[in-house]
Amino acid sequence: MSNSTISHEFDVIIVGSGGAGLTLALSLPNHFKIAILAKSHLNDASTYYAQGGVAAVLDKTDSIENHINDTMIAGSHLCELNAVKHTVEGGQASIDFLLSQGVQFTLDEKEQLHLTREGGHSHRRIIHAADATGKAISTKLIERAREHQNIEIFEHYIAIDLITSDKLKIDGPKRAIGLYAFNEATETVHTFLAPFTALACGGAMRAYLHSSNPDIATGDGIAMAFRAGCRVANMEFNQFHPTCLYHPQARSFLITEAMRGEGAYLRLPDGERFMLRFDERAELAPRDVVARAIDFEIKRLGIRYVWLDITHQSADFIQEHFPTLYEHLLTFGIDITQDMIPVVPAAHYTCGGVMVDQHSQTDLLGLYAIGETAYTGLHGANRMASNSLLECFVYGMSAAKHIQMQFKEHTLLPLIPSWDDSQVTHPDEDVVILQNWDELRQTMWNYVGIVRTTKRLERALHRIEMLKNEINEYYQDYKVSKNLIELRNLVMVSEMIVQCALQRKESRGLHFTLDYPDQNQTLERTVLIPPNFQVKKESIHP
Ligand code: FAD
Ligand code: SIN
Repeated sequence: MSNSTISHEFDVIIVGSGGAGLTLALSLPNHFKIAILAKSHLNDASTYYAQGGVAAVLDKTDSIENHINDTMIAGSHLCELNAVKHTVEGGQASIDFLLSQGVQFTLDEKEQLHLTREGGHSHRRIIHAADATGKAISTKLIERAREHQNIEIFEHYIAIDLITSDKLKIDGPKRAIGLYAFNEATETVHTFLAPFTALACGGAMRAYLHSSNPDIATGDGIAMAFRAGCRVANMEFNQFHPTCLYHPQARSFLITEAMRGEGAYLRLPDGERFMLRFDERAELAPRDVVARAIDFEIKRLGIRYVWLDITHQSADFIQEHFPTLYEHLLTFGIDITQDMIPVVPAAHYTCGGVMVDQHSQTDLLGLYAIGETAYTGLHGANRMASNSLLECFVYGMSAAKHIQMQFKEHTLLPLIPSWDDSQVTHPDEDVVILQNWDELRQTMWNYVGIVRTTKRLERALHRIEMLKNEINEYYQDYKVSKNLIELRNLVMVSEMIVQCALQRKESRGLHFTLDYPDQNQTLERTVLIPPNFQVKKESIHP
């Protein structure tokens, strides 16, 4: 046995310190003993990097119905209406929650919340903190969580796998009772036990070579839940953000859609405003349309990027609305008040995920999934801009309510066997992990990108399966490390993306395949069922 006998007990374990995880933690009563685990620093999460804002109906000329309609249209009508309603109706409560935690948003001249616009939204409804909304939200929520005596924070702890009651031959229906996590500092595995566990691990877009996401986005929550017996849906719908900075020294830097919302144009090298040829909504068409148009033009002209141009707005306007972008791009020698910005699409958002109901419950009792890890049904075939942070807050609060209601069922937790790594050794060469990591991302980018074909997807699947076997063998033989845990998850989630993409015999929203260019008449989600799936008494998503 390893020396990994350190065991922690809590009422609720939350994996993830982004908008979803922190909302859940801060919405639970103060007498709950809560653990928050984060792979890295608390603010190293997609939430922190969000620029645009949070969509919510606050303007009198707008309505809940408008927001619902816009979401359904952006999602190519594959969204589940109940989930859309639940989310949109939770807009006001979400903003109230954020304000109550002290988050400061940009105000207009009447001291009301300033509302900006983004693609797909028929009205101004994006609440924001200039162009660094995520930073404003994360910083405040982290500050509040650190103030709570009942919340214990575990930074640099990487959840490896869930612990389920059936594995321990515990009587009663199968449920999640905690997880194993790798402490990066001591290189030991700890046991975390609780009657309630929530996966708020973010998305999986680091599966692609070019991504707007931070390094943490390796699909850990989705892979862990699937291994534990939860269904996963709609993994073929990966959103490519149309405008990430193209610069050799810039890594994953997004240029917010709000810039197009405030009038920026997309141009070709000859100056043509090409989006007008593709969609009457031009630069404010939904992201799938804009990303595909850029991809088409880049391939047609053999160029590496297109230009984003906001120079026709006044310098004062630009500096007031986009202070962070202005400063950051200056460091690359780009003055956005005078220069156009070179941009390319990059993998940005995982629309699919672990299937949950309106309480954020997964298929497994005691297990919740929230935020980008979850499939709630909100986004359908394409997420509308700024709907994802909203989803994090709404479903984070829903999970908190449900956990509170279920809490009486809390029973004493059993003794759990320690992580056994007595049969494994330290890896002889880590280069294997690096090599497989690069190969996986390159494969996903080249074969499972913005425009797909069945042949490319089959090629990808073949390569991914080889990589998966190699990585699993490595996992069984050697001690775990952060890179190995992430790669094991990423290869599993990549396989799910390809499997879902192969199952969808149509082009809809973010999934575009040359072999099936039209939409089917029927609306169906793509569901992956794990071999150990057991139907719960009350099945979610009937
Ligand atoms: P995250 O914020 O990504 O947090 C994930 C957490 O899980 C991290 O703390 C991580 O350490 C932890 N974690 C993961 N795996 C493990 C593990 N195995 N063990 C322990 N911890 C783990 N959406 C909008 O609505 N509006 C926007 O303006 C917007 N802008 C964006 C800009 C950028 C650059 C990006 C990348 C995304 C943007 N999005 C935006 C999308 C949105 O930010 C994300 O969908 C959302 O923040 C996800 O929140 P989350 O809490 O689910 O996950
Ligand atoms: C952006 O600011 O363009 C990102 C918004 C989002 O992803 O919702």
